[in-house]
Amino acid sequence: MRKNIFFVCLAAVMALVLPQVNHAKELTGQLEIFSWWAGDEGPALDALIEVYKTQNPKVEVVNATVTGGSGVNAKAVLKTRMLGGEPPDSFQVHAGQELIGTWVKADRMEDLTFLFKEQGWFDVFPKGLIKNIGTDDGIWSVPVTIHRSNVLWFSPENLKKWGIEAPATWEDFFIAGDKLKKQGIVPLALAQNWTANHLWESVALGSLGADNWDALWAGKLAFDSDAGVKAWELFGKVLEYTNDDASSLSWQQATDMVIDGRAAFNIMGDWAAGYMSTTKKMVPGEDFGWSASPGTTGQFIFLSDSFGLPKGAPSKDNVLAWLSVIGSLEGSDAFNPLKGSISPRTDSDMSKYNDYGKSAAADFGKDRIVSSLAHGVSANEGFMNDFAAVMEMFLKSRDAAVAAKACQQIAVKNGIGK
Ligand code: GAL
Repeated sequence: MRKNIFFVCLAAVMALVLPQVNHAKELTGQLEIFSWWAGDEGPALDALIEVYKTQNPKVEVVNATVTGGSGVNAKAVLKTRMLGGEPPDSFQVHAGQELIGTWVKADRMEDLTFLFKEQGWFDVFPKGLIKNIGTDDGIWSVPVTIHRSNVLWFSPENLKKWGIEAPATWEDFFIAGDKLKKQGIVPLALAQNWTANHLWESVALGSLGADNWDALWAGKLAFDSDAGVKAWELFGKVLEYTNDDASSLSWQQATDMVIDGRAAFNIMGDWAAGYMSTTKKMVPGEDFGWSASPGTTGQFIFLSDSFGLPKGAPSKDNVLAWLSVIGSLEGSDAFNPLKGSISPRTDSDMSKYNDYGKSAAADFGKDRIVSSLAHGVSANEGFMNDFAAVMEMFLKSRDAAVAAKACQQIAVKNGIGK
C-alpha cells in the first residue's frame, strides 16, 4: 500500500516536472534577417518579426535591410557577402530561378525538406509553388508571399474627372493616353530602371500571350522571333506615354504621381496596394482602383518572396524557428494583409484581407498563372543582370530589333530553357 502511494506521488511529481524537462531549449543569441523591405516596405516585416519575438523573446533580431525596390541594391550586397563566406542567417529571395538557378545551383542553400514534413507544409502550399522552391534534391526556401506583377493602378475619382476608363487593351490605353496628354496628365507613371523591366513583362505578356511567354522561358520561342520583336516595339510605344524623369524616381514616387493626380496610371506589383492601404491609409476600391494590365485580363503574373537557410548561417536553430514562423498561418496572415500580397497558404483566413487582397486571391484561384521575369521566377540572376543592361540600352536607343537580338544572346549565354 505504502509502495502504491509512493508511486502515485512520484507520478504526480513527474507530471509537474516533465513538461518543463521536455520543453525545447529556449533559443538565445542573434538572428540576422536580410531583405530590402525598408521604410515604406517595412510594416509587414515588422509584424512578422513581432510574431517571432513573442515566440522567442530571448533572441535578438537584427533586421538588416538594404533600401531599393525589387532588391536592386540588396542583391548586390548579398552576393558580396555570400561569396565572401559571410552569409546572413536568412535572406529574402524570390521563388523560381533567382533561388534555384542561382543559390541552389551554386550549392549555397540547406535542404529544408525535413521542416516541410514536420510543419505539414506539403499539404498547405500549392504544388505549383513548391515546384518553384524545390528540385529533385530538396526544398530550398519557405514562401511568405504571393504577389501579382501585372496590375494597373489608378484613382477612380480622377479617371471620372478626366473622362476616361481603365483600358483593357493597349489600343484603348493609347486612345485614353492621347486624351490625357492634351490635358497635361502623364498617362503612365514610371520610375527607375528596374520598374521598366517590371513594365516590360506586363507589356510583353500582353503582346505575346501566355503560351508564348511560357515558351520564351522554356527556350522554345526565340526572343528575336517576330513575336519577340513585336513585344519590344509595343513596349517602345508605351514608353512614349511615360514621364521624362522616370529614372530618378522610386516606385513609391511613381505611385504618388497617380495618388496626387499628376499621372493617370501606373503598372506595378501589388506591394503598391500595401503602400496605398498600409502607409497612405487609402481604401481599396474607393481611393484607389485596379485592373489587370492591358491585354492580360485573366492572366496573373506571379512572384513569391521567400526565405531560406544559407549554408554556413551563424545561428541555424534561430533560422529554423524564423522559417517556422514565416510558413505558419499566424505569421503569414500577420504579414500579407499589410504587404498587399496574399498568403501562399491555401488555408489562409481571408477575413483578415482587404478588398484588394480578396480580389487578388479570387484571381489567383481562377486565372492563368505565369512567371515573373522582373522578380526572379523566370530567369536566373545572370540573365537578370544582362537583361538590365539590355533595358538600359533600349531606353536610350529604342531599337526593338537590336534589343530582341541581344535578349536572345543573353538567353543562350545564361542557359534559359536548359
Ligand atoms: C519585389 C518583392 C516585393 C516588393 C518589391 C518592391 O521584388 O518581391 O515583395 O518588395 O520588390 O521592392
